[in-house]
Amino acid sequence: MKRKSKNLPVSRSGRFSAGPEPEAAKFTESVSFDWRLWRYDILGSMAHATMLQKIGLLTKTERNGIVNGLERIGQEIAAGRFRWKTELEDVHMNIEAALTRRVPAGAKLHTGRSRNDQIALDVRLWLRDQIAALARELRDLQKALVDFGSRNAGVVLPGYTHLQRAQPVYFAHHMLAYVEMFERDHQRASECFRRVNVCPLGSGAIAGSTLPLDRELVAKLLGFVDARNRPRLTQNSMDAVSDRDFAIEFCASAALIALHLSRLAEDLILWATAEFNFIKISDAYTTGSSLMPQKKNPDIAELSRGKAGRVFGNLMALLTLLKGLPMTYNRDLQEDKERLFDTADTVRSTARLMAAMLRHTTVHAGNCLQAASDPGLLATDLVDHLVRKGRSFREAHHGVGQLVALAERSGKRLNELSVAELQSVDPKLDTDALRIFDVPRALTRRNLTGAPGAREVKRQLGRWKAMLSE
Ligand code: ARG
Repeated sequence: MKRKSKNLPVSRSGRFSAGPEPEAAKFTESVSFDWRLWRYDILGSMAHATMLQKIGLLTKTERNGIVNGLERIGQEIAAGRFRWKTELEDVHMNIEAALTRRVPAGAKLHTGRSRNDQIALDVRLWLRDQIAALARELRDLQKALVDFGSRNAGVVLPGYTHLQRAQPVYFAHHMLAYVEMFERDHQRASECFRRVNVCPLGSGAIAGSTLPLDRELVAKLLGFVDARNRPRLTQNSMDAVSDRDFAIEFCASAALIALHLSRLAEDLILWATAEFNFIKISDAYTTGSSLMPQKKNPDIAELSRGKAGRVFGNLMALLTLLKGLPMTYNRDLQEDKERLFDTADTVRSTARLMAAMLRHTTVHAGNCLQAASDPGLLATDLVDHLVRKGRSFREAHHGVGQLVALAERSGKRLNELSVAELQSVDPKLDTDALRIFDVPRALTRRNLTGAPGAREVKRQLGRWKAMLSE
């Protein structure tokens, strides 16, 4: 069905005699997902209108009419009363058309602006808020990890390499390992914020504008400023409308967050098995089986692990989306939105749920200690003991290896060997060698910075508590 030219959306009026085929329109529309940028689209338009008034392209009355009109539209959208129209393609044209219907001066709003710089602006504004919210959620997750460690400050469990018991560590040390990872994630997010926080408005479609737009004013109104309140503007109009590296950078740092969340989830899943039985996740964060009545499954943790896949996929999608685009704006770029939205939504909700789940998980201290009390886990400490007595590390390592084999052959645990058996391997071993196998004492011996010794773990817990309460 051909539509009359006068009913066409603003982007087609004049040049086109008819609207697009319905299926083509459905294929090209973005309002079904970019509508969620509305708040930022409105903020950007308000700043732009204020600037147009300042440079004399809008009267005060026109500018106020536009700003009030946009405010009312915003209220309607927030209340769910706004009618989004697919035939108007995107969030920008829906809002502009609604405004112009109510306020004739709305027809002047797009002066010196293109949807190309408008969408670059909206995404940057949206992403700034997302990064700030994500940063807060990461902080909360770190707090939950520190609390979880503190609540179980005395708990010792085996640390693993190759998923084989390696050496005993404090449970808190294990939790603090994740706190460190999320700290770097937090830093990455704030560094990404700096590059997002640059104002592209005034770049126009590709080549700026012949009108004397005041880009600095718009940037200041929208908070695109540095620490000294100086406006931060994109410096090349072609770059500003064509690149989305800031969004990709966000997705890359989100991918690392998802990766860290996934590894944490995997630890919890393992620990909640009957085989480990180190923790109990509260019922509220587990699900049952539709068939097996006894089952309690760690689905939240499993989904936290699984969702990393889509976050990685989103990153790959965006990299691929951009790699072959000739300068400058190409409609392909519209495909960035859903991947970007999904990344922020997924990583944020996973971080929140993980924090909540940790707050509802208890540790079976006895089972952890029992697993950590395998004397083999202190074989390395026995090597160090021999080194302190003057043996070379290689000799000592070899000797203790022989003891491990001897214990295995005679069906004993390492600390059950007699002094005579110890001395058959190395005469420097006497009764005080057997005292090495006391786990709590062993943990007083590891006090290097970053080691899981009692004193050091306490210091690290204190450091993180102070840092996270700031
Ligand atoms: N929906 C578009 C996007 O997300 C907005 C910019 C459209 N620009 C254009 N020239 N068609 O990229």
